[in-house]
Amino acid sequence: MGPILKKCLNFLFLLTILLVYLVGTSAINSDGDALLSFKTAVINSDGVFLNWRQQDLYPCNWTGVKCDVQSKQVIYLNLAYHKLAGSIAPEIGRLSKLQYLALQGNSLYGIIPPELGNCTALQHLYLQGNYLSGVIPPEMGNLSVLETLDVSSNTLSGIIPQSLGNLTKLTSFNVSMNFLAGEIPADGALLTFNETSFVGNRGLCGKQIDVECNDDPQSQSRDSQPPSAGNWLPKKAGKNSTRLVISAVATVGALLLVALMCFWGCFLYKNFGKSDIHGLRMDVSGGASVVMFHGDLPYSSKDILKKMEMLNEDNIIGSGGFGTVYKLAMEDGSVFALKRIVKTNEGLDRFFDRELEILGSIKHRYLVNLRGYCNSPSSKLLIYDYLPGGSLDEVLHEKSEKLDWDARLNIILGAGKGLAYLHHDCAPRIIHRDIKSSNILLDGNYEARVSDFGLAKLLEDEESHITTIVAGTFGYLAPEYMQSGRATEKTDVYSFGVLVLEILSGKRPTDSAFIEKGLNIVGWLNYLVAENRQREILDPNCEGVQMESLDALLSVAIQCVSSTPEDRPTMHRVVQMLESDVITPCPSDFYDSE
Ligand SMILES: Nc1ncnc2c1ncn2[C@@H]1O[C@H](COP(=O)(O)OP(=O)(O)O)[C@@H](O)[C@H]1O
Ligand SMILES: *[C@@H]1O[C@H](CO)[C@@H](O)[C@H](O)[C@H]1NC(C)=O
Ligand SMILES: *[C@@H]1O[C@H](CO)[C@@H](O)[C@H](O)[C@H]1NC(C)=O
Ligand SMILES: *[C@@H]1O[C@H](CO)[C@@H](O)[C@H](O)[C@H]1NC(C)=O
Ligand SMILES: *[C@@H]1O[C@H](CO)[C@@H](O)[C@H](O)[C@H]1NC(C)=O
Ligand SMILES: *[C@@H]1O[C@H](CO)[C@@H](O)[C@H](O)[C@H]1NC(C)=O
Ligand SMILES: *[C@@H]1O[C@H](CO)[C@@H](O)[C@H](O)[C@H]1NC(C)=O
Ligand SMILES: [Mg+2]
Repeated sequence: MGPILKKCLNFLFLLTILLVYLVGTSAINSDGDALLSFKTAVINSDGVFLNWRQQDLYPCNWTGVKCDVQSKQVIYLNLAYHKLAGSIAPEIGRLSKLQYLALQGNSLYGIIPPELGNCTALQHLYLQGNYLSGVIPPEMGNLSVLETLDVSSNTLSGIIPQSLGNLTKLTSFNVSMNFLAGEIPADGALLTFNETSFVGNRGLCGKQIDVECNDDPQSQSRDSQPPSAGNWLPKKAGKNSTRLVISAVATVGALLLVALMCFWGCFLYKNFGKSDIHGLRMDVSGGASVVMFHGDLPYSSKDILKKMEMLNEDNIIGSGGFGTVYKLAMEDGSVFALKRIVKTNEGLDRFFDRELEILGSIKHRYLVNLRGYCNSPSSKLLIYDYLPGGSLDEVLHEKSEKLDWDARLNIILGAGKGLAYLHHDCAPRIIHRDIKSSNILLDGNYEARVSDFGLAKLLEDEESHITTIVAGTFGYLAPEYMQSGRATEKTDVYSFGVLVLEILSGKRPTDSAFIEKGLNIVGWLNYLVAENRQREILDPNCEGVQMESLDALLSVAIQCVSSTPEDRPTMHRVVQMLESDVITPCPSDFYDSE
C-alpha cells in the first residue's frame, strides 16, 4: 500500500472515530455514561467490554448488563470472574436503580467507593476475591434494602462501620479474610450473623465471634498461643473452625494464584505471538541501520548486521515484558545482549530515537550500558552490555545459596546507587517505572546493575500501564500508582523497598505463601511489624546475617514501602542510610548518637 493512500485511510479512520464520538456522547443515556466511566477505570479484562460501545443509545445490550425495560436504567451488573484489573469508578454511584452488582473473583484494587452508598436500590452486592483496600465505607449503611453483602477475601482494614447495623434486610453477610479490627457492631442487623461471617480478621472482637472486646490491647494479644505462623488466625477459633479457616484460605489462595498465573500467561502468550511473526533475519535484511553511541562499538554496521542476521532461537537468553533478548557474540570475543522490541507504532520513530540517544548517554557503574541500537522496519534492536551473572530474579529464586548476607547487601547497595543516579544525577531525571528483580542484572562478581531504565516510559502507549501491572510486576507497584497510573520517584522508591524485602526473604513479592494469607510481601511485613516480629521475614537459608544491619535494613525497607508517598525517603537518602547504618553498622557506644 502506498504511503499516501495509507495516510488517507488513517485520516478517514480518525474522522470516523471523531464522528462516532460526537454522535455517541450526545446520545447515550446517563446510566450508560456511568458504565463507560466504570469501564475506563478498569485497565484490563478478558475482553468482556468488547460490546460496551459508546455509540449505543442504551447500555442494555452490553455483556453483563440488564436494564429496566421501561426506563432503560441499569438494574443488574454482573462482571464476576472476568479478570478485571483496575479500580471501581465512583460513577457507579450514579446507577440509582441498580439492584444487583457482582464483581467478585477479579483483580480490582483501590477503595470501595463511598458513592456506592447512593445505589439505594441495591439488594445484592458481591465484591469478594479482589484486592480492594481501605475501609468499608459507612455510606453502605444507606443501602436500606440490601440483602447480600460479601466483601470477603480482600485487603480491607479499619472497623466494621456502626451504620451497617441499619441493614435490616440483610440475610447474607461476609467480611471474612480481611484486616478488619475493632468491635463488631453489637446492635442491629449484624447481631444475627455468627463467626463464619468474620473468619480471618486478626483484630475483630464482639459477641458474634465470642471474643471479648478488651480496652487494654496488651492483655488482648498476650492471652493465647505462642507466636507461630498461624498466629494471624482469630485468637479464640476452636479446632474445627481453625481447620475451616485453613482450608478456606488455601482455596481462596489457590484461586487467586490461578487467576494471577492466567493473567501472566495470557500476557506472555500475546507477546510471544507478536514477536514470532518475523525472525531476526527478516528484521535486519529489509533495510536496517545501526546507531552507535560515542563510537562505543568498534565494529562496522555491516559486521553487526551480519552477526544479527545469524541469530536464532538458540541464542535467546530470555524474554519479558518488552520483547526477546538474544546473546550477540562478536568475532573479537566481546558479548552483547540484544533486546528486540517489535514495533507497533511507526509514528513514534523519531521520538523514540531521541529518547534512546538520551538513554545511551547515561553511563554509570551500577547501570547496564546501552551501546547502541539498530533500526529496522519491523523492530528496534537495542544493544546492551551482556551481564554474565544473569538476572537477580534467577539467582535469588533458583540459586539462592550463592547469595550470602554480604552479597545480598552489596546487591541492594548497588541497585540503590544506580537508581539514585537516575533520580538525582541525570538531566533530565529518569523515573525507572519497572524496578523488579529481573531488571537487576549481575556481573561476574555479583555486582548489581540496574537495567531497562527509561524503557517503560518509552514504550508507554495504551498498553504499557497494563503491561507493567500484568507482567509479574504486580507486587512491586505502589498503591497510589495502581490507582492513578502516574509514576513518580516515590513509586520507584516503593518498588525498591519491595525489592529489598524480596532479597531479604528470598520470596517473590506475590509468593503463594503470602497470597494464601490474603497478602503480598508488604502486607506480610506490616503484619510482622505490628507484632514486632519483623526479623522473621528473613530467608532462613541466608548465611552470615548480622542482626544490627538487618534491623537497620528493615527500617529502610519499612520507610520505602510506606503507603504514603511523602513518608518514603528519596533514593539519595536511602543510599545514605544504607552506607551509614546498614553496611558498616557502628556500635552506638563508639559514637555519640545524634
Ligand atoms: N544485558 C543483559 N545481560 C544478560 N542477560 C540479560 C540482559 N538483559 C536481559 N537479560 C535476560 O533476559 C531476560 C529478559 O529480559 P527483559 O526482556 O528485560 O524482561 P524482564 O526484565 O521482564 O525479565 C532477563 O530476565 C535476563 O535474564
Ligand atoms: C439490542 O439488540 C437488538 C439486536 O441485536 C436490537 O434489536 C435492540 O434494539 C437492542 N436493544 C437496545 C436497547 O439497544
Ligand atoms: C451521591 O449522592 C450525594 C448526595 O445525595 C451526591 O452529592 C453525590 O453527587 C452522589 N454521587 C454520585 C456519584 O452520584
Ligand atoms: C449516607 O450515609 C452517610 C453516613 O453513614 C450519611 O452521612 C449520609 O447523609 C447518607 N446519605 C444519604 C443520601 O442518605
Ligand atoms: C440508622 O438509621 C436511622 C434512621 O434511618 C438513623 O437515624 C441513624 O443515624 C442510622 N444509624 C447509623 C449508624 O447510620
Ligand atoms: C452460622 O450461620 C450459618 C447461616 O448463616 C449456619 O448455616 C451455620 O450452621 C452457623 N454456624 C454456627 C457454628 O452456628
Ligand atoms: C465467608 O467467606 C469465607 C471465605 O471465603 C468462607 O470460608 C465462609 O464460609 C463464608 N461465610 C459465609 C457465612 O458465607
Ligand atoms: Mg528487563
